[in-house]
Amino acid sequence: MNAAEFVLEDVAKRFGSERRGHVAVKGLTDRFSNTQSVGIIGESGSGKSTLGRMLCALETATSGSIRFNGEEIADIRASKPKLIQFRRDVQLIGQDTTSSFDPRHSLRESIMYPAMSLTGLSRKEAYEKTDQVVELLGLSPKMADRPSEGVSGGQRQRFAIARALIVEPRILVCDEVVSALDVSVQGGILNFLKTYHRDREAGIIFISHGLPATSFISSELRVMFQGEFVEAGSTRRVVTEPEADYTKKLLAGYRAVPETLEAEVA
Ligand SMILES: Nc1ncnc2c1ncn2[C@@H]1O[C@H](COP(=O)(O)OP(=O)(O)O)[C@@H](O)[C@H]1O
Ligand SMILES: [Mg+2]
Repeated sequence: MNAAEFVLEDVAKRFGSERRGHVAVKGLTDRFSNTQSVGIIGESGSGKSTLGRMLCALETATSGSIRFNGEEIADIRASKPKLIQFRRDVQLIGQDTTSSFDPRHSLRESIMYPAMSLTGLSRKEAYEKTDQVVELLGLSPKMADRPSEGVSGGQRQRFAIARALIVEPRILVCDEVVSALDVSVQGGILNFLKTYHRDREAGIIFISHGLPATSFISSELRVMFQGEFVEAGSTRRVVTEPEADYTKKLLAGYRAVPETLEAEVA
């Protein structure tokens, strides 16, 4: 499988004008590769989704550089063939899967069509591959013939993951993928993603405001506060020996002692 890597240098994103706008992200310098599972944690409004959307080429940085496999995201966005390859390599899974599925289509169609246009699979091939990926997620292919309102929230999130995985991405950006789900269904999805990362060497960038899920799935953490990374390191180090005051405050909000954070989700 191909290697894939993001390199970020002093990335900033401002919404609105220089004078009256709002800086959502600033000074981010980092690397993310397909061999890593990196958690990005921070409170609501700290800039996590803006970062995720920039990584997925859905938003452009105001300044600084984001390169994917050596190529500037801005250049990838400007070239249709490059963007198609990029969409095969990097997939976003979001929180609100209700609105991301077109109610006029079956779940199967919503999975098949984008895969066909990105990979050039025939209809028959895409149909069969949809069955495979749906089964991989522990769902029945028969259920895929329903519209998205015909399944539960947890099932719909699994279909959203199937839709991302059908193109065999090298890096998955997961933005609050379990935050809206009951704890009882979160564990299965987190375990699936963790196993997928390990077995396929697909990178995971796991964005969330919830520490237990994030530390369970991620071997590294970035703590985001007001648009900046205030702490970065291995998950174990960050939860056992936090350096930044904000991280200490964040950890204090959890009943569990750090060592049991994993057990809470598993
Ligand atoms: N499209 C946008 N236009 C203007 N402001 C935005 C936009 N998207 C996000 N913001 C602002 O940027 C900040 C960071 O938002 P976001 O990245 O969604 O944070 P998080 O995902 O951590 O909750 C917030 O203050 C938010 O209001
Ligand atoms: Mg968000």
